[in-house]
Amino acid sequence: MKVKTAEFVISNTRVDMCPKPLLPEYAFIGRSNVGKSSLINSLCNNKKLAKTSSTPGKTQLINHFIINDEWYLVDLPGYGFTKTPVAMKEKWMNFTRNYLRHRENLMCVFVLLDSRHNLLKADDEFMEWLGENGIPFVMVFTKMDKLDPRDVEGNIKAYQEKMSEKWSFLPQHFLTSSEKKTGNEELLAFIEETSKGFTPVNE
Ligand code: GTP
Ligand code: MG
Repeated sequence: MKVKTAEFVISNTRVDMCPKPLLPEYAFIGRSNVGKSSLINSLCNNKKLAKTSSTPGKTQLINHFIINDEWYLVDLPGYGFTKTPVAMKEKWMNFTRNYLRHRENLMCVFVLLDSRHNLLKADDEFMEWLGENGIPFVMVFTKMDKLDPRDVEGNIKAYQEKMSEKWSFLPQHFLTSSEKKTGNEELLAFIEETSKGFTPVNE
C-alpha cells in the first residue's frame, strides 16, 4: 500500500467523540518517547503530521488521522514515563484504556517497544492487559538505527524468550526505524491485509 493522503481529523479523550467507526482503525501505543508519533510521520511521509518531541509526554490525547480516506491511524499518549505527575498519567491511561476496550472498529494495536531494551515492566504489564481484554496487538520494535546490526538478532531472541515465559504463542513483530524508514512497507502491507477482514458496524 502507498500512503497517498494523510490528514489530521480530531483529538479528544472520549471514545464516543471519536470519528464514526465506519473504517478500519489501527492505534499506536508504547512507553513515552518510544517513537510512536515519529513512526506515524514516517509511514505517512509527513514530518509534521503527528507532534514529536525529545521530551517524553508529548502526545496527550487520542489523535485520529485518516489515511487514503480508507483507514484511521491513531496516535495515543505514552505510558510509563516517571516524570509525568501521577494524576496526569492516570488520567491518560484511563481514557486510553477506555478507548482501547470500546473502540469497535479497532483492528489491531501496535505496541511500540524500544529495540535497545529488554522486556520492561511497563510494556510487560500493558501487553498482559491487552491479552486479558482480548485486544489484538502486534509488537513493533523501534529505533533500529540506534542498535548495532550485530545485536539485532540476539536482542529480539532474548525478548521472545522472555515473552514465551508468559505467552503460549507470541504476537507477530516488526522491526522499524523512523529515521531510516525501515519496516514501513511491512507495516503498511500488514494494515492492508488486516483491513480486508473489516466489516462496518451497522448503525
Ligand atoms: P510521547 O508522545 O511523548 O509519548 O512520545 P512518542 O512515543 O510519540 O515519541 P516521539 O515520536 O515523539 O519520539 C521521541 C524521540 O525519539 C524524538 O526525539 C525522536 O526524534 C526520536 N526517535 C523516534 N523514532 C526514532 C527512530 O526510529 N530513530 C531515532 N534515531 N530516533 C527516533
Ligand atoms: Mg507522541
